[in-house]
Amino acid sequence: MPGRTILETALNPPEPLGPDLLSHWLLDPDIAFLNHGCFGATPRTVLEVQIAWRRRIERRPVEVLDRRRDALLAEAKAAVGEFIGAAAVDFGFVTNATGGVNAVLRSLRLDAGDELVMTDHVYNACRQTIRFIERESGAKAIEAEVPLPVEGPDEIVACIAGALSDRTRLVLVDHIASSTAVIFPVRQIIDLCGDRGIDVLIDGAHAPGMVELDVAGLGAAYYTGNLHKWVCAPKGAAFLWVRPDRQAGIHPNTISHFLDEGLSSEFNWQGTRDITAWLCVPDSIDFMRQFGWNNVRRHNHAMAVWAQSMLSRRWAVPASTPSDGSMLGSMATLPLPAGVRHRFADPDTFQSRLYDQHRIEVPIIEFKERWWVRVSCQVYNEPGQYERLGEAVMELST
Ligand SMILES: Cc1ncc(COP(=O)(O)O)c(C=O)c1O
Repeated sequence: MPGRTILETALNPPEPLGPDLLSHWLLDPDIAFLNHGCFGATPRTVLEVQIAWRRRIERRPVEVLDRRRDALLAEAKAAVGEFIGAAAVDFGFVTNATGGVNAVLRSLRLDAGDELVMTDHVYNACRQTIRFIERESGAKAIEAEVPLPVEGPDEIVACIAGALSDRTRLVLVDHIASSTAVIFPVRQIIDLCGDRGIDVLIDGAHAPGMVELDVAGLGAAYYTGNLHKWVCAPKGAAFLWVRPDRQAGIHPNTISHFLDEGLSSEFNWQGTRDITAWLCVPDSIDFMRQFGWNNVRRHNHAMAVWAQSMLSRRWAVPASTPSDGSMLGSMATLPLPAGVRHRFADPDTFQSRLYDQHRIEVPIIEFKERWWVRVSCQVYNEPGQYERLGEAVMELST
């Protein structure tokens, strides 16, 4: 892929990074699994490491979970910190990005009339969290509309700028939006808000492993990201980074023994729980590193750009982001041909038909009164799987 022109990337799928990569995962080879983005998928060898950790814990529960916990987590955090561009003391492990968003929003002390800004591309669980905070605190939720198809980063920045006021306390913005797959211009948004003294919480649920990260360098007040999606760690691995000047005010969703003893201590102990997913993150980073992390990101991105272009031509629908791929990572969301909507009662029925009849696992999304499909691209995916989707949708829509 290095050296390929934008046109070549759009017209040709990338070369695989190795033979039979799917065999490294437990995924069912009979299914075209185009939904890595939903819950990720963990390589067999990493799951074996997790089993080994569980055995160690069961053999010596108190030694591992109590006496050695902080040292073991410090080791895991050192590797994660290097990968995400953050000092280990400035982030804590959480179970998922939803938990990271909740920890921040539920720690804030808001007054009635304060405003919390998000966009309409926000992940619905996080929208619900903001709605809950609105209900509890009297703060007001503002949802900025961002179009789809989206023309470019400046359009998004302008939409957010238009939603800010002197009552805005926090802007929640996705790094990579869940349903629309759009990469948001987070640095520009952080700068815009910083100029007005407004804190930004970045929901980077999809970002680690999909795009190169320099979390501390971005300068947001808060950044949460999943490690069980594109880093392929076991489920239940995510982090919440907090800028040092905001750390004293942020607490995990479960308050426990180490309240006010510092971010690391508080997040390292959130009550008795299974910490093995966290301990396995360095192994998942290393597993993907065997292909070269830059190669992984380049391959997955090239597949997404090609899939967007191929499917939009096949279905005669517009691409939802610029065709040069500049606003895509490893996923692409496309509008479905109008015929689908005429033939199916709801998106779930259509999704089930794709799965049951065509063995394709892919999310169908209703957004802005249209039906969309989001394809994910991971190293185990092959171009033929997207072509299969292209044909299946044509067959079901006519
Ligand atoms: C932007 C965004 N935020 C939050 C989440 C939730 O992730 P989790 O279920 O791991 O908390 C997702 C999941 O797809 C997402 O895309």
